Amino acid sequence: AVSPSLAERVVAWQRTHGRHDLPWQNTRDPYRVWLSEIMLQQTQVSTVLAYYDRFLARFPDVAALAAAPQDDVLALWSGLGYYSRARNLHRCAQAVMEQHGGAFPRSSAVLATLPGIGRSTAAAIAAFCFGERAAILDGNVKRVLTRALGFSADLSQASAERELWARAEALLPATGMEAYTQGLMDLGATVCTLRKPSCLLCPLQQTCVGRAQGEPTRYPVKTRK
Ligand code: ADE
Repeated sequence: AVSPSLAERVVAWQRTHGRHDLPWQNTRDPYRVWLSEIMLQQTQVSTVLAYYDRFLARFPDVAALAAAPQDDVLALWSGLGYYSRARNLHRCAQAVMEQHGGAFPRSSAVLATLPGIGRSTAAAIAAFCFGERAAILDGNVKRVLTRALGFSADLSQASAERELWARAEALLPATGMEAYTQGLMDLGATVCTLRKPSCLLCPLQQTCVGRAQGEPTRYPVKTRK
């Protein structure tokens, strides 16, 4: 028998140990997924929960958000911080209405052209909503992958960043993108943590290069910023 791939291990772990009942899961509505990803960019899950439901109650769809005065959007964002996120959220809703006929684009490449949606957020939306094979690479996932791969290039260099994106793309499963994407996020948030990773709970422990070297926390390597 061949040993399971990294993606197979992550997907199996997600199905048994990952989070399945967050309010932005179990939906393929890109509006709800997009809103959650923007809120979660710099804010932890426990804080986002209350804001998320309140926001959806006031702005149930992208048309309602686009039509609202910016001050109403900022007022509902108050307390979440990083207010450029809220301004971009509003601009993005207007772009979806005016340039995409009120429907979110279905490809990560087009999603990434919208205000406030970077490459990783675009990939998350496309994977969760449309099953697209697109790699995410936020801070948590960079930690998981650099440790698992023993990726030692300096991520303050653009060339290393590009190489890690390519490695992330090469690891994507043929199917099961939703569980894989959520699994990488959940591993980074709950197991492969910054200071004291719980390697004994990790589905990648047998193959993780950082762990084999005895010092997973030396990854990711970043000399500047
Ligand atoms: N952080 C960013 N996206 C997330 C998601 N979909 N679930 C949990 N935490 C996240």
